[in-house]
Amino acid sequence: MSSPETRSSQTEEPIVRLRNVSKEFPGVLAVDGVNLEIKPGEVHVIAGENGAGKSTLMKLLSQVERPTSGEIWISGEKARFHGPRHAQALGVAMVYQEFALAPDLSVAENLFLGREPARAGLVNRREERNRARELLERVGLDINPNRLVSSLTVAEQQRVEIAKALAIQAKILILDEPTATLAEKEIESLFEVIRDLKSHGIAILYISHRLDEIFRIADRVTVMRDGRIVDTLPVGELDEDKLVRMMVGRDIENLYPKAEAEIGDVVLRVEGITRGDVLKDCSFEVRAGEILGFAGLVGAGRTELARAVFGADPIDSGRIELDGREIRIKSPQAAIDAGIGYLTEDRKGEGLALQLGVDKNITLATLPAWAGLVNLKAERETAQHRSDQLNIRTPSIRRRVQMLSGGNQQKVVVAKWLETNAKVLFFDEPARGIDVGAKAEMFSLIGDLAKEGRAIVLISSYLPELLNMCDRILVMHEGQVAGVLSREEFSEERIVALATGAKEAAA
Ligand SMILES: Nc1ncnc2c1ncn2[C@@H]1O[C@H](COP(=O)(O)OP(=O)(O)OP(=O)(O)O)[C@@H](O)[C@H]1O
Ligand SMILES: [Mg+2]
Repeated sequence: MSSPETRSSQTEEPIVRLRNVSKEFPGVLAVDGVNLEIKPGEVHVIAGENGAGKSTLMKLLSQVERPTSGEIWISGEKARFHGPRHAQALGVAMVYQEFALAPDLSVAENLFLGREPARAGLVNRREERNRARELLERVGLDINPNRLVSSLTVAEQQRVEIAKALAIQAKILILDEPTATLAEKEIESLFEVIRDLKSHGIAILYISHRLDEIFRIADRVTVMRDGRIVDTLPVGELDEDKLVRMMVGRDIENLYPKAEAEIGDVVLRVEGITRGDVLKDCSFEVRAGEILGFAGLVGAGRTELARAVFGADPIDSGRIELDGREIRIKSPQAAIDAGIGYLTEDRKGEGLALQLGVDKNITLATLPAWAGLVNLKAERETAQHRSDQLNIRTPSIRRRVQMLSGGNQQKVVVAKWLETNAKVLFFDEPARGIDVGAKAEMFSLIGDLAKEGRAIVLISSYLPELLNMCDRILVMHEGQVAGVLSREEFSEERIVALATGAKEAAA
């Protein structure tokens, strides 16, 4: 008898078998001679540094990209390359980081797009709705299937994507950094769904940079480096140190190197910022050399507060002082001119010019507005320096940012802000999608910026990051500042209590 737990036994026929699979892009061998087997009912994590080839490998499997060489076998048959729809027909479903749902269609319509349950050519709406309800229930979503996808939260949209995989009776579900935009509660409930799929024999291929998560959900882990597989191991044979070593090829002593910066005068003072229901009377200050954390649940208003200070959204009331003088910020450009930088959490939407090169992107925020001429040589040297420092993986710094892996794009955004003379820097989820090695480097750079006397605001949903890096942590709850903790007062329980509005418990 095979219980769900023992399904992925050694004898079972793998769902997927990759044989010597390679993918070459101009100048990059993204996937290099990969051999891999995925068993039914296993959660198989793919880990590795930014640019290691994880996403590309998944795209080969879901037939978004055609392999340069090698064979892919699915359910014991050699798969021919016919594009994503064909891969779906073979039972391969992929949930992208940027979801692929149609926002202006209903949930039900999205679930059956192109495959409506039809009778004599007619779409049967009622049947569609009932079937949609069943699928949504299986992924733990209690919503009306008639709702428009655009009205759903990110976490809900992700569930719809997974329900869609169930709708096509996927045998293997690929999740590329699925928790990057989720709150802790949503992560736990995603894991419940994954466990359920697993117990039905569906294999999960899971890409993640979060070590804690890997140990919570994985059955086996495959580590990639430079397009090749370093090893595949059962999770029980790994610990964090070993995993990190396999990924980056060396030990990392300290993931969060907290710089001992001297804390000076108040640089930025924000008083009573209010914007509709989103921000209610928010005040805070941050000093030179200080790292102030913003904690809170997703949607609590942390990003909104940063955007308001940065002039990205209009405010109803409130005042902002920089170096003791009141300033009026009407636009992001005005904020940059005044000396305030904001590294957005939405790197694709706002942080980068995807069509331009790495070099141009890095120097974008600093290009002197007064000069019609740009000093190309200096620009390239600067870009090269930052690119080396952050270990940005690209065959050339002139390569279009679009071609870079997700994590390397994020590093370009960071490099860009390091180049400015900003006195105050907001980092919004800077570690999202970044590999462990680069994370440590980036936090060390953030520490260096503080040491230079800049004031830093660090927004993060990952508490260990805040607890280790910050001098003080401001906790937001429903658009308000629920409390500010100093280092002696730091504790996860306290932050969670404030973030969830349990004020008494925190007192
Ligand atoms: N469409 C493309 N054109 C050219 N090069 C590409 C393309 N897609 C990926 N690459 C390159 O292939 C390599 C592997 O990229 P991939 O996106 O698979 O990395 P990854 O492991 O998913 O990294 P990350 O953790 O940063 O998401 C990188 O060097 C990347 O620049
Ligand atoms: Mg990737």
